[in-house]
Amino acid sequence: MTTDTAAQAAYVVAALLFILSLAGLSQHRTSRSGVVWGIAGMVVALAATVGLASRSISATGLVLIVVATAVGAGIGLWRAKVVEMTGMPELIAIMHSLVGLAATFVGWNGYLDVDAELSGSLLGIHHAEVFIGVFIGAVTFTGSVVAYLKLSARIASRPLTLPGKHVLNIGALVAFVGLTIAFVARPNMGLLIAVTVVALALGAHLVASIGGGDMPVVVSMLNSYSGWAAAASGFLLANNLLIVTGALVGSSGAYLSYIMCKAMNRSFISVIAGGFGTPAAAADEGEQGEHREISAEETAELLGNATSVIITPGYGMAVAQAQYPVAELARKLRERGVEVRFGIHPVAGRLPGHMNVLLAEANVPYDIVLEMDEINDDFAATSVVLVIGANDTVNPAATDNPSSPIAGMPVLHVWEAANVVVFKRSMAAGYAGVQNPLFFRENTQMLFGDAKQRVEDILRGLDTLDTPVREMAGTSR
Ligand code: TAP
Repeated sequence: MTTDTAAQAAYVVAALLFILSLAGLSQHRTSRSGVVWGIAGMVVALAATVGLASRSISATGLVLIVVATAVGAGIGLWRAKVVEMTGMPELIAIMHSLVGLAATFVGWNGYLDVDAELSGSLLGIHHAEVFIGVFIGAVTFTGSVVAYLKLSARIASRPLTLPGKHVLNIGALVAFVGLTIAFVARPNMGLLIAVTVVALALGAHLVASIGGGDMPVVVSMLNSYSGWAAAASGFLLANNLLIVTGALVGSSGAYLSYIMCKAMNRSFISVIAGGFGTPAAAADEGEQGEHREISAEETAELLGNATSVIITPGYGMAVAQAQYPVAELARKLRERGVEVRFGIHPVAGRLPGHMNVLLAEANVPYDIVLEMDEINDDFAATSVVLVIGANDTVNPAATDNPSSPIAGMPVLHVWEAANVVVFKRSMAAGYAGVQNPLFFRENTQMLFGDAKQRVEDILRGLDTLDTPVREMAGTSR
């Protein structure tokens, strides 16, 4: 078997491993094995690529590749080890920016180092590939950098609203098409620089135009763009595995964006056009009346007398690392005969599945963790809802106030319960910067402080309560 045949066979194996990885990652129970399949696929892919490259490059070149791979792997391992769960979205965004940058470089290299055997229409196709690769790569690069800056709060998350922003976006696309035609006819450095600049500006503008509450969709959209950028590089490098892997990432990212759009009640097309920012963002509507406070001891008593409890966690639970005491609280209440369930909003936290991961980590049984659509009708028949560090995802303004920046976004109807206790440290707004009328409702009480400490206080309070409301038997609901 030649090196080339062996490498192509290894690429098929790697592609299958990546598909298995995606399948594994689609469910909590199998997600760990999904990660292992992915690592195995990448090891096979790297080994095959280095083996293939070793035929045509010098020993020094090979050493440089191995050193670069080791340095990259070292940085990746270090970042993955130190990153907090709350910092995952910005880490993902900055990783996407690297894919975009790599695709841009591959495109430029494709122009500077043209295969001498290419001629006629094949050369034209090659130059079109160069342009498309550079364009997608540069859009992904600056879009991901702006997303990183927004997600890490280094720049304001409110949408940039330049006059005629849609015209600017469409103008950039038209310029891209025109420049591509010109480049295929007469390739030159000036046109390549021009398309790079247009794409860099378009990527930054698309993401800058998007408001804070809609950032989840942007993260998955950039995930998709980075896949297409990799696929474009695959065409340029004539690397089948890169084409397949890029297409897998691109299409799964696009599907995730579609799911997120449905969850956020946004139009998929307007997301791709970067046009669903909320210019009329009434970011601070001020206080909306008096709020009531409750202590941890009083909350323990309220819970002790409850028959049904729904816990709706959000980003604050992740910040406080409160998932372990929250799991313990659920366990204790169930022991007392209280029906306890969790209601999970699809964009609670800062990355898809954020709350599910934390609750699984704390061993909360899967069968009491329900998605928003499964639980939204049950709030009205619930004694107590504990809103633990959630804000935008439980904001009634999304359903009641058409001028709210989050209008139309489906939310958890927590306010329909008999009692709502909101755990947070202050009256500050959530990620979207929108005040939450829930805090001022008659049936809502605020429990201020760090969520982990307050839940631990409640656990102690529960221990001092007299007899359980009901006995343990038959409480698996
Ligand atoms: P948020 O609206 O982000 O609100 C979280 C709340 O937690 C804040 O109001 C904060 O109030 C409180 N908090 C922070 N630290 C706390 C602590 N240590 N103890 C107690 N409370 C604490 O949360 P959410 O309801 O989960 O909504 C998520 C938001 O993020 C949505 O707007 C969503 O669009 C956006 N987003 C989501 C994603 C994904 S994919 N899930 C990605 C990017 C953005 P205090 O400061 O007063 O404590």
